[in-house]
Amino acid sequence: MSESPWWQSTTIYQVYPRSYQDSNGDGIGDLPGIIGRLDHIQDLGIETVWVSPFFASPQLDFGYDVTDYEAVAQEYGTLDDAVRLIDEVHARGMRVMFDLVLNHTSDQHPWFQRSRSSRTNPKADWYIWADGRGKHGRRPPNNWKSAMEFTSAWQYSPIRKQWYMCSFLPFQPDLNWRNPEVKEAMFNSVRFWLDKGVDGFRLDIFGQIMKDAALTNNPVRPRVYNGFPRMTERVHTENTADNVQLAKDLRAVCDEYPGDRVLLGEVFGPPSVLRSFLGDDDGLQLVFLFDFLTYKYDAEWFARTIAEFDRNFPAPQQPTYVLENHDRSRTIDRVGGDPAKARVLAVILLTVRGVPTIYMGQEIGMSNTPLRFKDALDPIASSVFRRVPQFVADRMSERLNRDEMRTPMQWDSSANAGFSPAGVQPWLPVNPDYVRVNVADEAAQPGSILNLYRQLLRVRREHQSLRTGSLALLGALPPDVLGYRRNDILVLANLGEQPAVVRYTGEVLVETGQVAVGSGRTTLFPDSAVVLRTVVPRMA
Ligand code: NOJ
Ligand code: CA
Repeated sequence: MSESPWWQSTTIYQVYPRSYQDSNGDGIGDLPGIIGRLDHIQDLGIETVWVSPFFASPQLDFGYDVTDYEAVAQEYGTLDDAVRLIDEVHARGMRVMFDLVLNHTSDQHPWFQRSRSSRTNPKADWYIWADGRGKHGRRPPNNWKSAMEFTSAWQYSPIRKQWYMCSFLPFQPDLNWRNPEVKEAMFNSVRFWLDKGVDGFRLDIFGQIMKDAALTNNPVRPRVYNGFPRMTERVHTENTADNVQLAKDLRAVCDEYPGDRVLLGEVFGPPSVLRSFLGDDDGLQLVFLFDFLTYKYDAEWFARTIAEFDRNFPAPQQPTYVLENHDRSRTIDRVGGDPAKARVLAVILLTVRGVPTIYMGQEIGMSNTPLRFKDALDPIASSVFRRVPQFVADRMSERLNRDEMRTPMQWDSSANAGFSPAGVQPWLPVNPDYVRVNVADEAAQPGSILNLYRQLLRVRREHQSLRTGSLALLGALPPDVLGYRRNDILVLANLGEQPAVVRYTGEVLVETGQVAVGSGRTTLFPDSAVVLRTVVPRMA
């Protein structure tokens, strides 16, 4: 029997290049900086590194607005650095994924500059253009909303006297993927990186690329989805059948190459819809499941959510779990600043069946850096969230300034946390807690969260049950206890406020908080978790 593909049991670490390591003292993280820190990622025990976009960009959305998919932004380094990054990751026995923004480019991309110059130029049809409604066409073509929901997805161009679509922000025009030339150009950029040896891609807002060709209005149905307001039901702009087909076309490009090149989609929707992107192992291999970003710190919630994903992504498919990323709040801030709870969540993330993703700094317990909204560099915070009407703000679970989760990685307790040399002003301020929360100090403390992450990742690598074993939730547990079995491994976590006793025991592989493993029973104090190895009864 052949071994299962690497992506089914990998662990992913997200690097936000601008904030990882500044190698040349300009206050901005860069590719040589990442290369210089790969040993940290390897020591942590990670198997795959995902690097957020570092391509040529005016950086209005910090790289999610690309002007050249085959060039590296000047402040991040050179093409040689990108190739060296791939090689250096491989030299350490890890895999590397880049971040592809296929839905939109920057409005400063030469394609868009050309496209908007007239209705007849060779790139005229490379973006989604439409005539407006009303007497002078000054009303948007239809009711489609931008990602922010309370603004139109359409922007007016006085030059073409037409509207162009932006699913996200006004400077991020959507490419017209129904134009075969666009598809060809973009697929060639995908090949450009595959040729250089990249192991796969994280796909930015992948579910929104193929919109209804007839521009049919979306049904109006206001509600709150994933913590954000939704004014319309996005049936004609998200997760369309054509978009699932695009997943298959992109997979075919990856399959032109040897080795398993992996596609990890950023898609939103109910599990059954997300699963449709995987096709019959002929679509994306992985899709993010973002529910762990909006969890309730509650055993019942986790049991229900894990069960739902486990059912919807049966092996060899894998759920892909996320606790933190560059868009949403740090874990510690979600759990009232309590590191004990963040540690329990780390145990769950790294022991459930699926691919865990870890955002840089999560492994040392970084928290959101308190910053003033009015200073925000994040375009959502500065141009959108600052202006949302109060009634909308009230309905949002997080009205975030994403700068707060993007401050520099905290390496040590020296000036600038070791991110930039002393005397340099980093692009975003360093969180003042760096004197306590940093890699060097935590590495030296056996009980640190960093060492918990290392230990969990090691145990995961060493135990096949945690990599590929099935998952069975344990029933009949005290109310606040989450428990599941992965073959011979048992995971128990007490998310409640009272000590709890369970009738399970075994050899302790990892523990956090206060746990007493006795004969025939284990006592879990509040905010504790334990990974046990049990003896499995032999099959008759
Ligand atoms: C999702 C990315 O994670 C986010 O950072 C970005 O702003 C948008 N997509 C737009 O590309
Ligand atoms: Ca730099």
